[in-house]
Amino acid sequence: MELKIDRVTKQYGSKIAVDRISLTLGRGVHGLLGENGAGKTTFMRMICGILAPTGGSISFDGMEAATEGYRSVLGYLPQDFGYYPDFTGKDFLLYMAALKGLPKRRAGEKAKELIEMTALKEAAGNKIKTYSGGMRQRLGIAQALLNDPDILVLDEPTAGLDPKERVRFREVIQEYGKKHIVLLSTHIVSDIEHVAGNILMMKRGQLIYRGPWGEEKGDLEQFYLKQFEGGEE
Ligand SMILES: Nc1ncnc2c1ncn2[C@@H]1O[C@H](COP(=O)(O)OP(=O)(O)OP(=O)(O)O)[C@@H](O)[C@H]1O
Ligand SMILES: [Mg+2]
Repeated sequence: MELKIDRVTKQYGSKIAVDRISLTLGRGVHGLLGENGAGKTTFMRMICGILAPTGGSISFDGMEAATEGYRSVLGYLPQDFGYYPDFTGKDFLLYMAALKGLPKRRAGEKAKELIEMTALKEAAGNKIKTYSGGMRQRLGIAQALLNDPDILVLDEPTAGLDPKERVRFREVIQEYGKKHIVLLSTHIVSDIEHVAGNILMMKRGQLIYRGPWGEEKGDLEQFYLKQFEGGEE
């Protein structure tokens, strides 16, 4: 299981949002850190095959991104996920499952399983507009998992989660990362420092750190903050 990212670049006019990132990701949890505008979302959208790079290539076990085969192994929670306020949580999952092409019976089973996993059982029959931010976020994570993706991409999945939900989220991700590739972005170092076996750090479109983070390297948060001292150039 190998996600291969080769000199991937995204340029918007004269602005280089992602600058020649090369990276190979295997099973495990990969935590992506970077200040606002660093290029995290742009990078993740290219990995999901919904944004075409202006340079470089992305493939999973030989399948090019943006092909149908590639998309079927991918689960994505966008940063600005759009919900359907008048759907119930359960109907929303069934609808997303249909879009992903899951057979009806499988969709029903999977929705049930994910509703339990994300602790939405009591709220599953209620309309999404009545959900808290944390509940919506959990529903977003659930929809990303519907097709048991080999590659799970979560863009700031912990935004809006309370401390208890954060702990639960970490457990879910850690477990999923044992057998799959999980890439998640966050601004909150504590969300990933104990969960992500691999830390990725972006600054102005470039990858400035990659690798595991061990105690011997000191405090990850301090290191992270140091990268952005002095602000914009
Ligand atoms: N569609 C677009 N057109 C032009 N510029 C864009 C577009 N999308 C993103 N950018 C620019 O590319 C850069 C990277 O943006 P991106 O959203 O990927 O950053 P990010 O790391 O996800 O930030 P945040 O932490 O705020 O979510 C920013 O300078 C942004 O303004
Ligand atoms: Mg972003």
